[in-house]
Order: sequence, then structure tokens, then C-alpha cells
Amino acid sequence: MTFIGTTILEISYIIASVLFILGLKMLSNPVTARRGNLLAAFGMAFAVVATLLWHRHNGERIHHVGFILAAIAAGLFVGWRIAVKVKMTAMPQLVSFFNGMGGACAALISLMEFPRLGGETHIAAMFHGEVLAIILAMVIGSVSFAGSMIAFGKLDGWIKDWKSPVIRVVNICFLLVIIALAVFVLSRGEVDPRAQMVWMYLLMGIALVYGIFFVMPIGGADMPVVISLLNSFTGVAAAMGGFLYNNQAMLTGGILVGSAGTILTILMCKAMNRSLGNVIIGAFGGSANGSAMEVTGNIKEITLSDASVLLNYSQKVVIIPGYGLAAAQAQHICSDLDKLLSERGVEVKYAIHPVAGRMPGHMNVLLAEADVPYDKLVEMDTINPSMPNTDVAVIIGANDVVNPAAMDDPCSPIYGMPIIHAHEAKNIIVMKRGMGKGYAAIENNLFYNPKTRMLFGNAKDTLQKLVSEIKNL
Ligand code: TAP
Repeated sequence: MTFIGTTILEISYIIASVLFILGLKMLSNPVTARRGNLLAAFGMAFAVVATLLWHRHNGERIHHVGFILAAIAAGLFVGWRIAVKVKMTAMPQLVSFFNGMGGACAALISLMEFPRLGGETHIAAMFHGEVLAIILAMVIGSVSFAGSMIAFGKLDGWIKDWKSPVIRVVNICFLLVIIALAVFVLSRGEVDPRAQMVWMYLLMGIALVYGIFFVMPIGGADMPVVISLLNSFTGVAAAMGGFLYNNQAMLTGGILVGSAGTILTILMCKAMNRSLGNVIIGAFGGSANGSAMEVTGNIKEITLSDASVLLNYSQKVVIIPGYGLAAAQAQHICSDLDKLLSERGVEVKYAIHPVAGRMPGHMNVLLAEADVPYDKLVEMDTINPSMPNTDVAVIIGANDVVNPAAMDDPCSPIYGMPIIHAHEAKNIIVMKRGMGKGYAAIENNLFYNPKTRMLFGNAKDTLQKLVSEIKNL
């Protein structure tokens, strides 16, 4: 590579890395998130073009540029079509699917690059970190791919949880075998890597099976943690690829995804009151043996006119949105209700649970789309102390995130998960279509609470009718 070419390429990678970082920073605010996404995508496109133009290997340009461009075009077309067509409610599955593709890429790159180390002995190559990077990328990428595909199936509802007391032991065994095989491949320093391919395929196969076993038992309210963990796995696997190719843009991109995913995992663990160690060996959920407490009491309904009067003459209303709000696409009409009540002097806030909906930040994104001011969205820990002074808690399509079993039923699978204390409000209105369960598939005692009144129907229709009623008051 000529000196000028090398310099231009390195500067391009630095520019791309800066664009990734700026894009990520902008993603932290709903107002700038869309531009941040575009900026980071532009950074990636810039890095790809720079690589095609200026990368040299032993003085030679990149070969098969036509194939590479055709593959990029095919990927762009398919990705674009899927993203345009996907429903907002299917977004979490899509994110999981795309994450899995990233993991698969990292694993395949490793498989391709391993025989390339041919001339060098493995010990020497390991000294350069190459073999280690290849093995880590392959194992982590394979686990991420297989795990993400299972998470995709679970979020889409066609794969069910598979809980068994032996899974914990099996998972630990898989981990030990993976470590032992990796050390074995690394230690056979003098052997030609091509002869080692069979061990690499075996390692990959076991990592894929571990990925499946790792996610299969995780379910109910615990999925968010595993999704963010798989996300960080893909980032780490991609960063290994960057290390392998000495490509700063790939390295920075991978590190950013890996570290953002790790931070999110820690936050999710905190939000779910779970330890990461238990996640990794697939020992999730509350008491596996006990049976959950029985729900008792009667369901009471409220009419639209009674609900409108109650809300109109309240001083303090807290809206608790959940997955049903996203499913009904009721965010705009929910914002209209908020504006109407606010105009009439009612103080309206939104209580945001970290795992409400089906993806991290789901409610924030949804409500930002409906232009709900960001300062009205209050985090769970901040709003909970004020719930006893709240006149009405309006639960719109939320279930697990307000289920008191998380606080007082040690046998419940969600026991220990922090919840929004809707049960402490003076009045509770629940909007949902019927008595359907939430993601964790458990009963909710809150619906039988004497203070609770149900407003059955699709959230969007119910809110539309409620807004009309309040306007007529
Ligand atoms: P859920 O517990 O899933 O409850 C949603 C409720 O919405 C259901 O009970 C359903 O009852 C109702 N609903 C569905 N469609 C509706 C519609 N069109 N109109 C009105 N209501 C509707 O939701 P949540 O409270 O937000 O909790 C989220 C759950 O998902 C947690 O268990 C969480 O761990 C899990 N999860 C979260 C994530 C992330 S990262 N956020 C990822 C994966 C899983 P009806 O059928 O009776 O209407």
C-alpha cells in the first residue's frame, strides 16, 4: 500500500469511528436519535467505500470487488425491505434477528481466516493474538447467532420456554467443553491450521448448541436481559474481527456495540433484580418448584363516562404504558388524552418501567413518536414514592410490570423483579382487551384489587372513546 493510501485509509477509519461515537451519543435522546442512526450508518458506508478504494494486501488491491458490491446490494435490498415492512410490534424480533446475523458474520469470518494462518505456527500466531481472536470471535459469534435465533422465535411466539433442572448442569458442561477445546486448538501450536479445521468445526458446532441451550430455558420477564447480553456478544465478536484485520473502524464499531450492550445488560439485570452469573448458566426465573399464589377477588368494570369523570376531576394522574399500548398503536391518542387532561389542570405523568414492552426503551421510543415531552416520562424508581398520592393510575396495556406478585409471592417466576407500584394509587383503571396474561404468562392479582376497575377493549378504541367523553364534560 502506498504511504498516501495508508494515510487516507487510516484517516477514513478515524472519521468513521468518530461518526459511530457521535451517532451513539445522539441515540440517547429521542429528538436526535433518528439523525444519530443516519450518521452512524453514513460512517459505516464511508468506512466500506474507503476500504474498497485504499485497502492493499501485500501491495494488491481488494479482489472480487464486483462480488462484494453485489453482496452489499443484496443485503441492502433484503434489509431495507424487511425494515420497511415490519410492524412496530415485531421490531424486537427483528432486532434479535439482525443481531444474530452479526454474530454469524463474525463466526464465518473466523472460519475463513483460520486456515489463512497456514505458514505461521499457532504458538507464534497466538503470540500475535490472531488465533485467540479467531477462536473467541467464532465461539462468541456462534453463541450469539444461535441464541439470537432462539430469542427471535420466542419473541415471535413460535418457540416456547424449555425449563428443566438439568439444563443448568448441561450448560456448565458445554461451557467447560468449549473452554477445553479452545485451549486444545490453541496448544497444538505446530500443527498446520488446515489440519485443525475439524476441531474448529467441532468447536463451532458445540458453541451453536450451547447458544440454543443457553436461551431455551430463559423466558417470561427475563428475556430483556438475555437480548442485551446477546447484543454485547455480537459486539465483542465483531471487535475480534477488527483486531484480526487490524481494522480500526471495525474494532471501534465492535467495541461500541459490545460495551453499550454490556452496560445495557447490567442495567437490565439491575432492573430485573437478577445476577448476571445466573443468566449465563441459564438459571433464570423464580422458584422453579413452588406454585404461584392463587388470585382471589372479583373483577370490577368501569363505564367510559365514570372513567372520564374520575380522570377529569383528578389532580394527579399517572399513565403506566405497556406492551398493549404498542400493540394497539395507541401512543398518539394516549398523548391526546394527556394533553386534554393537562389543559384542564390535571397533572399527568408517565411511569416508565425499564422492561415495559418488548425491547429496551420501547415505551420511550413509542411516546417520543407521539411527541410526549420527555420530562413527563418518569423512571420507575423516581415515580414509585409518589404513587400513594396519585389519584388515578391508568394502566394501558401493561401487565407484568405492575404485577404485585413480583413483590409478595416468592413462588412467582417474576418474584424479585421491581415493579411500578400501581397498587398504591388511590384508584386504578386498567385498559386491556380481556383477561389475557402478559409476557410472563402469569395471573395478576392487581386486576382483582378492590381499588381496580377494568376498561375492556382495544387500547386505541378505548382511549378514543374516553377522549370524546372527556371533551363532552
Ligand atoms: P405484558 O406483561 O406483556 O402485558 C401486555 C398486556 O397488554 C397483556 O396482558 C394484554 O392483555 C394487553 N394487550 C395486548 N394487546 C392489547 C391491545 N391491543 N389493547 C389493549 N391491551 C392489549 O406487558 P408489559 O407490562 O409491558 O411487560 C413487558 C413484559 O415483556 C415483561 O414481562 C418483560 O420482561 C417482557 N419483555 C420485555 C422486553 C423488553 S427489553 N422490554 C423484551 C422481551 C420481553 P389482553 O390480551 O387482555 O389485552
